[in-house]
Amino acid sequence: PQVDISADNSKVTAKLPTGDSVEVLLYGATVISWKSSGQENLWLSQKAVLDGSKAVRGGIPIVFPVFGPPPQNHATSSLPQHGFARSTRWEYLGKSTSESGALSRGGDDSVKLDFGLSQSQLSPESRKAWPYDFSLVYSVTLGKDGLQTMLNVRNEGRESFEFQMLLHSYFAVKVAYRGRWAAADGVEQNISRVSISGLAGTSYIDKVLDATEHSSSSPTLSITGETDRVYKSLKQDTTSILQDDKPHLDVVRDNLTDTVVWNPWKEKAKAMGDFAPDEGYKNMVCVEVGSVDGWQKLEGGDTFEGGQLVKSHI
Ligand code: BG6
Repeated sequence: PQVDISADNSKVTAKLPTGDSVEVLLYGATVISWKSSGQENLWLSQKAVLDGSKAVRGGIPIVFPVFGPPPQNHATSSLPQHGFARSTRWEYLGKSTSESGALSRGGDDSVKLDFGLSQSQLSPESRKAWPYDFSLVYSVTLGKDGLQTMLNVRNEGRESFEFQMLLHSYFAVKVAYRGRWAAADGVEQNISRVSISGLAGTSYIDKVLDATEHSSSSPTLSITGETDRVYKSLKQDTTSILQDDKPHLDVVRDNLTDTVVWNPWKEKAKAMGDFAPDEGYKNMVCVEVGSVDGWQKLEGGDTFEGGQLVKSHI
C-alpha cells in the first residue's frame, strides 16, 4: 500500500497505509480533518461554511498577519479580525512523500503537503489594506508521530513589516477515551472532564474577565465556562489536552511561545451563526499556538518559521 493523495479544485486529501488521513481545504489552507487510529482529532462545525465565502468554523484556520481585532494606528488596522490568510484561497504547491519498506508495514510513511499564498493572490481590498510584498508557505505533514503544521513567512520586498501569526486549531474532545466515555456518560459532560496542562508562562491575558494581564498562571486550566486566554512566553514547548486527567493530545510549539485557549461556552456558541450544533462547545476546545504578543518584525528578504506538532495519545 502506498500513500494515497487526491487533489481537486477545492481540497487536497492524503491517506497513509495505516489509515491515518488529513484533508486540507485550499480556501484558507484550512486543515478540516485529521484522523488517526480511526478517530477524528479536529472539531468542525456542522454549519462551517466551506465554499470560500467565510472563514471556516473549525479545523485549523490560519491567523495572519494580525491576531484578533487589529489595533488602531498599526499597519494592520484596516484588516478584518484575524487577518486575511484564513479567508483567501491558497495554491497547492505539491507533495513529498517518504515511504517505508515492506518490513515496517507502512508504519513509517509520511506525507508533506505544501500550500502557498503571496501578495499577488490577495483580493484587491486585502492588498490595499496590507500593501506588503510577502509569501507564505504552509506545510502540513502527516506521519507516524502525528500532524505537523508549519508556517513559513517571507518578506519579499525591501520594506520591513510586522506581523502576528497563530494556528487556530479546534480540537475534538468528543472522542471516547479508549472507548470508555461514550458508554458511561454519553457526550454531555465531556468538556467538564477536559483540562489543559503545560501553561506555565510569564503572564496571560484573560479576554473574558477583564482583558488585562494576569501575572502568575497555574500550569493547568479546566474548561468550566467561557474561556478566552492568551498565554504569553510559555516556558515549555508542550501544552496538552487531558481527558479525565489522562493525556489526549499533545500540542508541541515550534519556534512559537504563545498559546490561546478558547471555548465560547453556551451563549457565545449559540450566538455564532456558523457554530453547530449549539451544544458543540462541549465537544471542542481551541488550543492555538502562535506569536501574538507584540509583533514579529521581518526585514526585506528575511524569513520566519513557526508551527506545531500535534500528537494523539489514542
Ligand atoms: C480566538 C480569540 O482566538 O478566536 C477569541 O481569542 C475569538 O477572542 C475566537 O472569539 C474566534 O474568532 P472568530 O473571528 O473566528 O469568530
